[in-house]
Amino acid sequence: MDSGQRPTAASLFDAIGAEYEQAFAGSAAHHASLELLLGHLTPHSRVLDVGSGTGRPTAQTLTDAGHEVLGVDVSPVMVDIASRQVPRAVFRCADIRELPLTDGSFDAACVYFSLLQMSRADQSAVLVRLGRALRAGGHLAVATVPLDLEGVSGEFMGRPARVTSFGPAAFTALVAGAGFTVLSESSSVFTPTHPAAAPEPHLFLLARRD
Ligand SMILES: C[S@@+](CC[C@H](N)C(=O)[O-])C[C@H]1O[C@@H](n2cnc3c(N)ncnc32)[C@H](O)[C@@H]1O
Repeated sequence: MDSGQRPTAASLFDAIGAEYEQAFAGSAAHHASLELLLGHLTPHSRVLDVGSGTGRPTAQTLTDAGHEVLGVDVSPVMVDIASRQVPRAVFRCADIRELPLTDGSFDAACVYFSLLQMSRADQSAVLVRLGRALRAGGHLAVATVPLDLEGVSGEFMGRPARVTSFGPAAFTALVAGAGFTVLSESSSVFTPTHPAAAPEPHLFLLARRD
């Protein structure tokens, strides 16, 4: 917990661990987003998976297709699970806001639901940094819960959580403003398989670095 007794992203996802994968395994929209991204990747692409969670489905789908994946997650428990589940990917425990990234060093980046515990300024800064880390023409697959919320306390999978996000138009504009052309948008409502879960809106974008 931080000084305000709110869980950090690391402590929240350390506590959730493998339960996250079970709860979200049924997301057809996540799989569809990965398939769309795969269609844009050349063989042996280098992909950065931000907030890589348990490694499934993202890192596993990409490595199964022959791509090289670096997963970054701030939760040591998630990094441990992902390293065991997807041994062909490399996982690092780090905060993406602080991790040095070499310009133009990735062909693609995935950011599936990993911005929600960051401030709006940090979400914007991370997207700008990811734009720089991608080569020109590289792709970004990003998903969020598109709600106009800032620092709202609630529960996620039965645990206290604080969420910050943007409405759909504002989030899409944020991605475009970070130096991307948005190629496709997909909106859906998903109910995680978990006793404490409620239906949540999901927004998936595929974008190309200008
Ligand atoms: C909602 S989970 C999604 C996991 C995975 N992307 C998926 O969709 O299956 C968000 C993940 O992002 C990680 N995360 C949150 N903030 C992060 C940060 N600042 N740096 C790195 N990882 C972060 C969390 O630890 C968690 O594993």
